[in-house]
Amino acid sequence: MKKLFVADEWKVIEEGLHPEDNRLAESIMSLGNGQMGMRGNFEETYSGDTHQGSYVAGVYIPDKTRVGWWKNGYPDYFAKVLNSINYIGIRVFIDGEELDLAKAEVRNFRRELNMKHGYLFRSFTAVDSKGRETEVEVIRFISIVDQEATVISYKVTPVNYSATLTFVPYLDGDVRNEDSNYDEDFWLPVSHDITRCAGTLTMRTHENKFNVPQFDVAASMKIRVIGGEVINVNNIANEEYVANEIEVDALKSQPVTLVKYVGVTSSRNYELDEVAKAAEKVACAAAEKGFMAMFEEQQAAWEARWMDADVTIGGDTEAQQGIRFNLFQLFSTYFGEDPRLNIGPKGFTGEKYGGSTYWDTEAYCLPVYLSTADSNVSRNLLVYRHNHLEKAKENAAKLGLGGALYPMVTMNGEECHNEWEITFEEIHRNGAIAYAIYNYVNYTGDKSYLGEYGFDVLVEISRFWASRVHYNAKKDVYMMHGVTGPNEYENNVNNNWYTNRIAAWTLEYTREARDYLASAEADRYAELVAALGLTDEELAKWAEIEEKMYYPIDEETGLILQQDGFLDKDLKPVSDLDSADLPLNQKWSWDRILRSCFIKQADVLQGMYFLHDQFTAEQKKQHFDFYEPMTVHESSLSPCIYSIIAGEIGYEDKAYELYLRTARLDLDNYNNDTEDGLHITSMAGSWLSIVQGFAGMRVADGALSFAPFIPKAWNGYSFKIVIRGHHIKVNVTVDGVKVSQEGGSDFAVKIYDETVTIPADGEVTVELRGLVQQ
Ligand code: BGC
Repeated sequence: MKKLFVADEWKVIEEGLHPEDNRLAESIMSLGNGQMGMRGNFEETYSGDTHQGSYVAGVYIPDKTRVGWWKNGYPDYFAKVLNSINYIGIRVFIDGEELDLAKAEVRNFRRELNMKHGYLFRSFTAVDSKGRETEVEVIRFISIVDQEATVISYKVTPVNYSATLTFVPYLDGDVRNEDSNYDEDFWLPVSHDITRCAGTLTMRTHENKFNVPQFDVAASMKIRVIGGEVINVNNIANEEYVANEIEVDALKSQPVTLVKYVGVTSSRNYELDEVAKAAEKVACAAAEKGFMAMFEEQQAAWEARWMDADVTIGGDTEAQQGIRFNLFQLFSTYFGEDPRLNIGPKGFTGEKYGGSTYWDTEAYCLPVYLSTADSNVSRNLLVYRHNHLEKAKENAAKLGLGGALYPMVTMNGEECHNEWEITFEEIHRNGAIAYAIYNYVNYTGDKSYLGEYGFDVLVEISRFWASRVHYNAKKDVYMMHGVTGPNEYENNVNNNWYTNRIAAWTLEYTREARDYLASAEADRYAELVAALGLTDEELAKWAEIEEKMYYPIDEETGLILQQDGFLDKDLKPVSDLDSADLPLNQKWSWDRILRSCFIKQADVLQGMYFLHDQFTAEQKKQHFDFYEPMTVHESSLSPCIYSIIAGEIGYEDKAYELYLRTARLDLDNYNNDTEDGLHITSMAGSWLSIVQGFAGMRVADGALSFAPFIPKAWNGYSFKIVIRGHHIKVNVTVDGVKVSQEGGSDFAVKIYDETVTIPADGEVTVELRGLVQQ
């Protein structure tokens, strides 16, 4: 854990340059707009430790799977998220001497992520070997209004001297991935063009043998200089680099500002011969609109996002900063505009993990978008999987199974994870995709989704489960052997309870969806049955599997076992371990981890979270008490689930402790790996911990309920949700739980065990229960 940043409600502030933690700060200060993003790098040259990274959504390269022992069914490639053209660069020279913060004496350094208004601010004074003091102030943002534009305002003030300042704004296509195994270069030059104060560079991903299209990415810049007299402009260009060398006569104390307008486009959205032109158009339009107009629009657009989605916390600035940071970075990664895109675990902040889509999206992120954004956003997330159904069927067939197996990691629907124990065995991910359909329909009431897109996905997932179980004649049950549950610290186990349960649940929900469609949309249902070749025998078989699914349970205590034989392990709590043993994944051999009882992330508890109304509070308590002490939370997805259940069973302090692990995971670098990039998908968990955990929000068939408490360290909290067209605000303070509605019509909400009606533009306050005495 490391406290590097100043606590502030709306900003993340780094005061003073921290060369040893620069990569960490770069991850934290990342910006994005769903289409592209970059780490919080410096514009000027920095010869210290840095990870320069700019990423364009959906642009990747298939990296051939290289393993010693090939296993049938392995995917041919791993999808690498690509570091692409560095378009923020601006070199600065003072009378020929380059500004480099690793070499100059740096005073008053400040790097600030402004979350309220969506921009990065940086200021410092650099003193060079000749005693010249230079003040610099930079504002950079990726527009969420003009989705392909980035703008940088770079202001330099010579404090105690007059000199020739040379600015070299550039576009650099000679970039590598930090995680490239063989120092491979993934880009080929396509075209470049340079004119006075403008330039364009287009790069193409290498050819591949995997039928993945090559992508073109173009960046185009337009430069404006304000203040100081431009005395000369030289153009520098080679096939992977374009730059303007702009010499300015700068006078003592007179600021000179260089504004760099950049357009970034890719062949995902344009024909190959249009990509560069489109980037130029974006840069020109941005320059025409001008910095101030774009900046104001950016601020207004982010304010509007916050109007719908902000969570406020009273009396705890760090917690407030934590939740806003999480929402800011999640929304910077994905805001639902493009159904071909998804939410990568590192977003636009790093390269680790590759691929873009894990079960994280459905299991963790979807509920946040359901409540805070237009329902189209969550619909797009579901449609993404619908569009990959054929690939998922191919994936199942490759393993000799029926139906559809969605990949563990994907960019385009094809599996690109190649550890057999995960690729072939961590099949519970399929259940999360079915559950997401239920979640969406249950929350929004949009049952039309089932007939339109949902049912065929449910049927094919059910077919997969039906082909993956085996019948145990002796016990007259169905079982699933050779699986990996959510807890990846156990592999190749038999009857992981969560997997068996989510499989049976899918079969049940598919039947419910079928019953609904058969009665409410008979024509569509008939069409679907014909297209899917669904028969009564198949449905009957699913009902049998559902009914006879085997679950590992300790008869004596009623304890649900994570998998067969779990109680035979050497069971002991994490607190018995020496702190030098943690984190296990860095300190222990894999073999030792697998044999131990220690749990990476919520597994049985994940099931109790999803299917929360099927378990009593006592059951949840029993399982929390048993499993949490053995859980190391070495997946960032873990603490939020435990936090929500802790809140539900009255373990309020524990709920808060686990919440902090989620909300400030990156800000305080809990897992000591934030320099690689942020844990984007688990950021959703902070919101879940507050809204579903502390406020106890649940939705059953459109019926909304809350059971709030306030963590000791807070005075209160508030958040907004939108549900079925109602804009609801929940404000929890010691004075009561106030639920109000903006506009709308009468809406029934259950608070604790009382059902109240919130009138249009009205509010209802109910006394707070379960307050931890301060
Ligand atoms: C977790 C998975 C998760 C993946 C990506 C892994 O460490 O165990 O559940 O899908 O990270 O976030």
